[in-house]
Amino acid sequence: MDINYYKQYEPIFGAWRITRLIGEGSFGKVFEMEREDFGVTYKAALKAITVPANESEVREVMAEGMDEASVRDYFGTFVQDLVKEFALMSKLKGNSNVVSYENHQVIEHKGGIGWDILIQMELLTPLNEHTRKHTITRQDVIRLGIDLCRALELCQKYNIIHRDVKPENIFISDAGDYKLGDFGLRLHGGYLFPGNRALPSVKRKPDALPSCCPRAHHPCGPGERPGKASVRGSPAAAQPCGGEAVGDCVKGLRL
Ligand SMILES: Nc1ncnc2c1ncn2[C@@H]1O[C@H](COP(=O)(O)OP(=O)(O)OP(=O)(O)O)[C@@H](O)[C@H]1O
Ligand SMILES: [Mg+2]
Repeated sequence: MDINYYKQYEPIFGAWRITRLIGEGSFGKVFEMEREDFGVTYKAALKAITVPANESEVREVMAEGMDEASVRDYFGTFVQDLVKEFALMSKLKGNSNVVSYENHQVIEHKGGIGWDILIQMELLTPLNEHTRKHTITRQDVIRLGIDLCRALELCQKYNIIHRDVKPENIFISDAGDYKLGDFGLRLHGGYLFPGNRALPSVKRKPDALPSCCPRAHHPCGPGERPGKASVRGSPAAAQPCGGEAVGDCVKGLRL
């Protein structure tokens, strides 16, 4: 889905207009959007996810022998799980080392199986862009490490394993705080059939996990796929993955 497709929902959240595409992940697109108020322009980021991403995904699921009602349930459950994650992310809002999720809306397609999910986030500078434009000092790297550890401490508090710590999910604010994003939005690594078998066309990209993430090289917990952010029952279980990854990711940034 391109920028014009999502523009049909303008004014988004009653006020915002999409201005440009920032980038694309394996689950949807991120746009810049803005709104005017008394002569002041405000900017925000919009993550837009369409489920299923296209007709061929529906056909693929149907080819597995599901009827229309089961297909609706199948994709609908995925959307519901995403929405549960928004509740979690809104708990993390207001912490200076975590990307703020401000608002979301789920719009069901009329006359077909499908949903568009719009998520408003604070607009930040991705780490990759920042490092291209600025010289990064040893002190900056230390600050980055400390800020990411703060974000992961918060994850631990809420029993979240991030599992997708990588430069594309690290940002810097105008105030110079490093922030970790994409809590839960990568959660399923693809829609899963019962038995955790991924739908072939929507499997994670093979390179979706950074090579610096130790979890890319060994399996996660039972029934989980690498890269899936998850909420676990016990703090002890939540501890290892993100924590291990940070040091290696900082090294992996080749700053
Ligand atoms: N709040 C934000 N402000 C500015 N840029 C953002 C924001 N959130 C995401 N981006 C940028 O938009 C691009 C797409 O992000 P997205 O999260 O969809 O994919 P990704 O993290 O690169 O990959 P994947 O989702 O496949 O793991 C990335 O380059 C990311 O840095
Ligand atoms: Mg991301």
